[in-house]
Amino acid sequence: MQLTEIDHVAIAVADLEAAITYYEETFGCSVDHREVIEKDGVEEALLKVADSYVQLLTPIRDDSPVAKYLATKGEGIHHIGYRVSDCSEALERVKAAGHRVIDEVPRPGSRGTTVAFVHPKGAFGTLIELVQE
Ligand code: CO
Repeated sequence: MQLTEIDHVAIAVADLEAAITYYEETFGCSVDHREVIEKDGVEEALLKVADSYVQLLTPIRDDSPVAKYLATKGEGIHHIGYRVSDCSEALERVKAAGHRVIDEVPRPGSRGTTVAFVHPKGAFGTLIELVQE
């Protein structure tokens, strides 16, 4: 078994502050971590739920993939992040099985993690992120 836990469920939102307030006031959640990921053109807020996170994501640039997602699909679940003990090994298994990937090699994610994205085409319509802590 390659996937050890659900790391996060990522939700694309147009207004990060409004989404944070919603989770705080409605469910009593609190923000555990915030980060701007320049390379991906996003700002994220992580709210802890048990050992996993809800990751609220908003674009900081018009050319961000999340901006394109919001423009075409609107707000909602964007991807699922699964924890793996070895991102490189898990990614190689996906490729060896003949499935499409977005990242050919693992790269730095937020919180100092190492991540790689698997293409939703070939993964039954879900964008999958492999997360190694
Ligand atoms: Co993610």
